[in-house]
Amino acid sequence: MERKTKTSKATRNYYLDLFTLVPFLFLLISGLVVLRYHGGTDHVVETIGLNGDIWLLVHKVCAVTVLPLIVTHLWLHAYWVKNIFSKKKKSKNNDMNISLFVVFSLCVLTAFLAWLVFSGKPVADLLREVHNKLGFALIFFFIVHLKNYFKWLLTMTKKSFGKKK
Ligand code: HEM
Ligand code: HEM
Repeated sequence: MERKTKTSKATRNYYLDLFTLVPFLFLLISGLVVLRYHGGTDHVVETIGLNGDIWLLVHKVCAVTVLPLIVTHLWLHAYWVKNIFSKKKKSKNNDMNISLFVVFSLCVLTAFLAWLVFSGKPVADLLREVHNKLGFALIFFFIVHLKNYFKWLLTMTKKSFGKKK
């Protein structure tokens, strides 16, 4: 019975992970594209068929989509969040997960402050500057995150989509 619950929790996590991966990758890729315009390229110039304004819109839509998905991802690992400050034995990925969590939170904070709170003010430019540097750190820690759980993802993919004997 307990084994069944464990399996169904893993399956639930797996489908949410897959569902989150797609907009998250779009968020990172569109972030790299808007960096081109942020660096001075005219917004009318197209990148892969879309102009700078559309790319910024894509980036913002992905940001708004990803946020509740990551909150759910963390909520499903609430035990991890609760254990951050406890002295209990931690998994070997713990430091990397904390780094990802901190960088992601700061990336979100700087972006949404620039966009929704300080829009049009000089401080918004500074926040966007900090935001895109954090964006690079986020890409790095996310690649490490995927690498750390790659085996698990592979096993779950075989279980979910592999041929049933
Ligand atoms: C960027 C913000 C993210 C943070 C802060 C984060 C954090 C975490 C944490 C704390 C765990 C649990 C670790 C443990 O139990 O010891 C975890 C597991 C995992 N995460 Fe993330 N994660 C993020 C994004 C993602 C995304 C976008 C994916 C998409 C594939 C993903 C895939 C996974 C996988 C496959 C696992 C292990 C399996 C499971 O879901 O239980 N994570 N993550
Ligand atoms: C957690 C992930 C991310 C979120 C939630 C996010 C969200 C946002 C939002 C809402 C804006 C609009 C800010 C405004 O209008 O003032 C923005 C702008 C920007 N983002 Fe991100 N972003 C993320 C990741 C990235 C990444 C990975 C990069 C690239 C390395 C990046 C690069 C940029 C740049 C350059 C801008 C400024 C565009 C401009 O000059 O108008 N972002 N981001």
